[in-house]
Amino acid sequence: MKSAVRRSRFPGPKAKGYVARDAEAISPSYTRPHPFVMDHGQGSFAWDVDGNRYIDFNAGIAVTATGHCHPEVVKAIQEQAAKFIHMSTDFYYGVQIELAEKLVSLVPGEHPKRVFFCNSGTEAVEAAIKLARYYTGRPQMIAFLGGFHGRTMGSLALTASKAVQKRGFAPLMPGVTHVPYGYCYRCAYNLEYPACDLACVEFIESLFQKSLPPEEVAAIFMEPIQGEGGYIVPPPEFHVRLRELADRYDILLVDDEVQTGMGRTGKWFAIEHWGVVPDIVTIAKGVASGMPLGAMVARKEVMTWPPGAHGNTFGGNPVCCAAALATIKLIEGGLMENAAKMGQYMLDRARAMEAEHSTIGDVRGKGLMIGIELVEDRENKEPAQALRDDLLQRAFKKGLLLLPCGLNIIRFMPALSIDVQTAEEGLAIFEEALTEAEKAR
Ligand SMILES: Cc1ncc(COP(=O)(O)O)c(C=O)c1O
Repeated sequence: MKSAVRRSRFPGPKAKGYVARDAEAISPSYTRPHPFVMDHGQGSFAWDVDGNRYIDFNAGIAVTATGHCHPEVVKAIQEQAAKFIHMSTDFYYGVQIELAEKLVSLVPGEHPKRVFFCNSGTEAVEAAIKLARYYTGRPQMIAFLGGFHGRTMGSLALTASKAVQKRGFAPLMPGVTHVPYGYCYRCAYNLEYPACDLACVEFIESLFQKSLPPEEVAAIFMEPIQGEGGYIVPPPEFHVRLRELADRYDILLVDDEVQTGMGRTGKWFAIEHWGVVPDIVTIAKGVASGMPLGAMVARKEVMTWPPGAHGNTFGGNPVCCAAALATIKLIEGGLMENAAKMGQYMLDRARAMEAEHSTIGDVRGKGLMIGIELVEDRENKEPAQALRDDLLQRAFKKGLLLLPCGLNIIRFMPALSIDVQTAEEGLAIFEEALTEAEKAR
């Protein structure tokens, strides 16, 4: 299926036609960085409608965990669709119960848990917001600057990664206080780790003393590694200290694993890298290899809301659940191990590029969640956004699909199944594009 790269007609006539029609018929609120019009995909490759082949370092946005169209996932979808495609969530079906049991066993913590199913990341976060308020009877929430939790009105109130996502939509859900994340490369307090003694976590404690009564706080919402905000890995004690803080005041710790979960970082859930057990975990994106599915998993003693308190029409759709079970089997069967191995490989390769490229300010990540922060120079760390955007365009024209995050960051989040040869091909394009973009400045 790996046909030769062909880009003599870029963007091809068919792609041009679709892009023009899209501009007329589809909401302009989507960000569309490249005129890529998908025809089909296989593994870590995607072909456009004009026959051009691309290496996909995005996997959707960390969604097609098993690669495009993994035959086992396709088979599971086809078999379930032939049996039944939908049944009201007022009734039972085995495939959903089986998936809930599996997720409960994978989410960190030995305690009993329960699952609420939905269709997306934002819905999983909405469910967590509602459950946290319902269970604690408290109105307030803490979230992090740079965090992304979705775009519906509740989750959007927690989101703080780009102003454009909020501009014009106020008033949002009240009761959210944002605090700096553990972003050591650009510390909000201009301190150095570890001498800082995690001033970012201590700041929450000072808020509790001065303006935010902790007994009114239902939950702390965090991403174990910030995704849309810039693929930011916090310092080693960050999550441990957050857990301690939450315990001190009986606040729930909500771990948003929508982007980081399901094996992407080399563990089922990224929070496992720090040995911390959250009270609620939100899951979506990679869980069903691209089929729309979300889940909110909570301690059984927390998920006590009564029948009718929360629900939906499509959540836990049987075809999506079948895709998720097939996905989990593949992740268990070697893809998580591959994510850890290939993640380290790609991280090392990206770090090795630092010697030749002074515009690489920071390379960070875990597993196949790698961020490369580009700067004008390493001393002043001025974000190199124009360079980053130019690099993206150049890489695209050479056959590599990349997406940005934050202001000046490139992220690698390929399928968990990526192999060395494909990673090398993509990394070579990345470096070539970076060299050219640096020269063009
Ligand atoms: C950490 C996190 N939470 C929530 C969401 C929202 O997910 P969705 O786009 O499926 O609503 C995202 C999406 O990027 C995310 O990265």
